[in-house]
Amino acid sequence: MKTAPDTAVLSDGGRDRHGRTISYVRISLTDVCNLRCVYCMPEKMTFRKKQELLTDEEVLRLIRLFGGIGFRKVRFTGGEPTLRSSLVEIIRATRETAGIESVGLTTNGILLDNLARPLGEAGLDSVNISIDTLDRDRFREITRWGNLDDVFAGIRAATKEGLRIKLNCVVSRGWNDEQDVLALAALTIDNPWQVRFIELMPFGNNAGFQVGRTVTESELVEKITARFGPLEIQNEGRLDGEARVYRIPGAAGSLGFISPVSRPFCSACNRVRITADGILRLCLLRDEEADFRRRIREGEDDDSLRDALTRAIYRKPWGHDLKSDAFPNKRGMSEIGG
Ligand code: GTP
Ligand code: 5AD
Ligand code: SF4
Repeated sequence: MKTAPDTAVLSDGGRDRHGRTISYVRISLTDVCNLRCVYCMPEKMTFRKKQELLTDEEVLRLIRLFGGIGFRKVRFTGGEPTLRSSLVEIIRATRETAGIESVGLTTNGILLDNLARPLGEAGLDSVNISIDTLDRDRFREITRWGNLDDVFAGIRAATKEGLRIKLNCVVSRGWNDEQDVLALAALTIDNPWQVRFIELMPFGNNAGFQVGRTVTESELVEKITARFGPLEIQNEGRLDGEARVYRIPGAAGSLGFISPVSRPFCSACNRVRITADGILRLCLLRDEEADFRRRIREGEDDDSLRDALTRAIYRKPWGHDLKSDAFPNKRGMSEIGG
């Protein structure tokens, strides 16, 4: 692990104290969700009060500051970001922000059917849609009440709009690690999508459910290979974002494996997060945070906020330590946005 003097700060296209370029911010627009995935949150969940959440203006101010210190990519997350009524306007304004080159959305897809068109028109580039099974009953069990047809309507609408699509499947042992995984992998044969299998990360309020349910990349590759034959590694094995990418021979789309538990990718991490209540979260799986809502509401000017941002980012922790069962527990996934 490299360290450098703490006086250095992030500059344009800058680096943290471990030498990583940090240029991607994931912004949670609400902690509320219209589903209750079993691995994510309990059925009876309490959410934050509206006044605790950043306003649109506060969100856009932070995005302008990020654009000004070398950030190039913004992804909006939740909870479920499509529940934020101003989502389209936020995306349009983000698209127009100096420095920002890519705007993405991670969603459960339930409300995407009607939103794909306005989102596309506002300048959204890519949409990552969570879908853990193709079985309607299983989908309802995992999400507690979701309707799989709504998600497919969303996928179709996003396709029509020309948005870049990735499908995210979190694999939980005993829930969707058998036929479901194979059916999702088979989707890539005819569709030009990247279907990504994500190792379940234990943390937050739901660690009780999560521990012991993670299915590793190697186990999944073995299972998928047994069905479809040897997978072709893409990108010469280099990561695409945080995913290692394979292809079923001859398939239109690809398979991505996001394996934070068995093959951590912290050395290549390029991101920070803003929670819906305005906290800068420096690592998904570490509880180090910096409160920007307080700074904004106390009236700090842009120079001061920019300085605080660059200093906090410079101190980004190296990465997680899930192997030693060091689970973060200040916040759950739905409050951070993945
Ligand atoms: P792209 O822009 O398409 O690369 O999206 P993305 O993969 O960055 O975002 P998405 O919201 O689709 O995230 C997919 C999964 O990766 C989620 O389960 C996230 O929790 C997980 N993930 C994203 N970033 C990180 C990270 O920095 N660390 C860890 N451990 N997991 C991450
Ligand atoms: N581990 C891994 N991924 C998770 N997600 C939600 N909770 C977890 C977890 N504990 C996924 C969602 C979505 C993305 C933002 O994070 O399914 O695809
Ligand atoms: Fe909602 Fe996503 Fe959590 Fe499921 S995983 S309950 S869709 S925030």
